[in-house]
Amino acid sequence: MDPTKRLRPILSAQIDRAFDVAVSWAKRTPMGYKLRNRGFFSRLQSHEEMLADKARVDAYAQALPRLVKPTDVVLDLGTGTGVLAFLAARSGARSVHAVEHGPVIEVARRLAEANGLSNIAFHNMHSGSLHLDEPIDILVHEQMGNSLFEERMVTNVVDLRNRVLRPGGAIVPGAFDFFVEPVALKPAYVVPYIWEQNIEGIDFSVLHGTASEQPPEYRWFNLLAFQFDRPLASPAPALHLDLHTISPAELPTVLDIERLIESAGTVHGLGVWFRAFLDHESTIDTTPFDMERSNWRTPVLRLEHPLDVSPGDKVRIRLEAETLESMDTWTWSVQHEKG
Ligand SMILES: C[S@@+](CC[C@H](N)C(=O)[O-])C[C@H]1O[C@@H](n2cnc3c(N)ncnc32)[C@H](O)[C@@H]1O
Repeated sequence: MDPTKRLRPILSAQIDRAFDVAVSWAKRTPMGYKLRNRGFFSRLQSHEEMLADKARVDAYAQALPRLVKPTDVVLDLGTGTGVLAFLAARSGARSVHAVEHGPVIEVARRLAEANGLSNIAFHNMHSGSLHLDEPIDILVHEQMGNSLFEERMVTNVVDLRNRVLRPGGAIVPGAFDFFVEPVALKPAYVVPYIWEQNIEGIDFSVLHGTASEQPPEYRWFNLLAFQFDRPLASPAPALHLDLHTISPAELPTVLDIERLIESAGTVHGLGVWFRAFLDHESTIDTTPFDMERSNWRTPVLRLEHPLDVSPGDKVRIRLEAETLESMDTWTWSVQHEKG
């Protein structure tokens, strides 16, 4: 038998593995991130979902007229279809700059023209390359990913804050609460690990230990509100941050969270969500325990085993991250102390 025949599948598996490692590394580089982000947001459906999120759009539509003065120059970071730039222009801004690195900017241009919004300048580039002749008064953005940070909101906003926002200028939204909470899912949406399966007597346990061969995103699910049953403790911010003052280097790399369990149930994972403060009245809240339609999914960080808990128990959560801006770098552990 040709000896290379036996080697071929082994080589091919190794090439596949090397390819996966290279892709995983490339995804984390700034260029890899830009390509993925541009690619995702060049799908019109993703913008349709965001435009259909009434709570999201209303929060901006209500806050901007309160914030924008007739002398103001506004910058919309990541304008997408242009919606926030249009709301700023309608709120009476002197002029608006709308920056977008993806091809969807052509949709925004068409809409501005069709709606007679002539004081918006469009810049088709990554915000890091944007240079303006005038300082801006208000930086509006919606760079909030499911886990708040993964669209590199902090890096992108802080870069513009430091280079083009006038001192004392406003960032909308400027402040955030970030939550990591023990959650119970509705039984129909609990997904066991593959090695826990036994289907018609076919035992999957041989696959135990294969988690380490999976890509990083194997470790969480992005779920919709109706899939959640309830929080098992009162949610409280694990982190509060203010984009007016923070620098990316100050983003914590370790979060220690302690929760007192208030109702008996099973912790199926750690739910991740946030509240964004646009001004003193308008907020956007992505908690999965409010059934109002939201385009945000809730990441549920999977646990090694579900935890059965009772009132009075304590749950200690540690979230560690090379950077909160890449969920691929997150690791977490949960300790359960009986009450
Ligand atoms: C979550 S969407 C929001 C779109 C729009 N502002 C809205 O509220 O519907 C984020 C948009 O920002 C764009 N984007 C992300 N990072 C960017 C950057 N650094 N510079 C320019 N555009 C960016 C994406 O292509 C995407 O269209």
